[in-house]
Amino acid sequence: MNGTICAIPGDGIGHEVIPAAVAVLQHVAPDLRVEWAEGGYETWRRTGDALPERTLRLAREADATLFGAVSSPLQPTPGYQSAILLLRRTLDLYACVRPVRGLAVSGQRSAVSNGQHDTVGHSPLPRTGEGSGVRAVPTDLIIVRENTEGLYGGGEESDGERAVARRVITRAASTRIARLAFDMARRLGRRRVTIVHKATVLPQTDGLFREAAFAVARDYPEIVADEALVDSAAMRLAGRPESFDVIVTTNLFGDILSDIAVIHGGGLGLAPSANIGEAAAVFEPVHGSAPDIAGRGVANPLASILAGAMLLDHLGRHAEAITVRDAVAATLAGPVRTPDLGGAATTKEVAEAISYQLSAISFCSPTDSTDKKQTFQELTADS
Ligand code: IPM
Ligand code: MG
Repeated sequence: MNGTICAIPGDGIGHEVIPAAVAVLQHVAPDLRVEWAEGGYETWRRTGDALPERTLRLAREADATLFGAVSSPLQPTPGYQSAILLLRRTLDLYACVRPVRGLAVSGQRSAVSNGQHDTVGHSPLPRTGEGSGVRAVPTDLIIVRENTEGLYGGGEESDGERAVARRVITRAASTRIARLAFDMARRLGRRRVTIVHKATVLPQTDGLFREAAFAVARDYPEIVADEALVDSAAMRLAGRPESFDVIVTTNLFGDILSDIAVIHGGGLGLAPSANIGEAAAVFEPVHGSAPDIAGRGVANPLASILAGAMLLDHLGRHAEAITVRDAVAATLAGPVRTPDLGGAATTKEVAEAISYQLSAISFCSPTDSTDKKQTFQELTADS
C-alpha cells in the first residue's frame, strides 16, 4: 500500500505538533510518502502568499493532507486570508467532521462534570465521583459542519461606521452537507441526527438550511431527525452531551459548538477533525496556533496524532489507525501528559511515549481490537 500525504505545519505550535504526528504516521505506515509544504500567516508575512501555489498543488495531489494551525490577525489585514479557509474553499472541502468521544482511561469511561471533563486521571479539573453529586456520562457524538459558506462565505464590508457581513446559505450546499451527515449516521449505525439552526431569527438563511436538511432526512427513515436552536443546543452540549448523536449545522455555529463539545473529549489537546471534499481531504487538530505557548515545546501533540489516525482511516488503513488510537489511549493511561492535561511533559516526551506504545503494540500484536470496532474509521471514507 502506498500513498502520499502533504504535511503543512502552518503557524505557532503547528511546527511542534505536526512533526510529532508525521513521525507517528511514518512509524505505523513507513511506506507513506510525505511532502512538506508551507502556509499560514508567517508564510504570508514572508512571501505575501498565505497559501503558496506549490502548497495548494501538493494538497490537491496528495491522498490526504495533515494541517497544523494558523494564526490570524484581529484587525483587518489587506491581502491576508487564512490558509485553512483558503484550503477549504479552494479544494471545496465542504464538510468539517469533528468526532468527540470521551477517551477511556485506566479502564474508566470518560466523565463530565458540569461541562468540565475528567477523562484523564490526572486532570486538574474536579473529578466526578462519590459525593460530587455529578453524573458521569459517556460522550460519543459527531459534529458535521458545513465548511464553505454561511458567515465564512459572504464577505464583509465596512465604511468605518457600519460594517456588514453577508451570510450565504444555499440549498445545494445545505443538501450536500445534510446528505453527508445522514449517510455517515447510517454507515455508523447512529440513531439520531440533530439539525442545529436559528431559523426563528434567521428565517431566510437558516430557514433554507433547515428545510433542505429535513428534505434529506426523509430518505433516512430509520434515523431520527430532530432539530435544536443553536443557543439551546450549546447549553445541552455543555451539560448533556449524551443527548446528541450526530449534529449537522452551518459553518459558524459548527465552529462554536465544536469547541464546546471537545470539553467532553478531554479538551482541545485531544480533538481531531477532518475537512472532506469530493477530491481532497485535510485533517487537522481543532486547536489553533496557540501563540502563548508556541516555541516552548509543551504543546499537546495528541490532537494532531488523532487527526493522523483519521487520515489513515481516510486512506483505508484502518488497522494502522486503530494502532495509533490504541497508543494514544495507552499513553493517556500513564503519567506522561502535557500541561493542558495537568501533566508536566513536553511535546517530545509525549511523542516518545507514543512511540514506545506503538512499539509495544506491534510487539504484542495481534492486538485485541474487538471492542474498538466503532472507531472513526468510516467517518471519512467509503473504503
Ligand atoms: C476551526 C478554526 C478556524 C475556523 C479558524 C482558524 C479560521 O477556528 O477550524 O475551528 O474558524 O473555522
Ligand atoms: Mg474553531
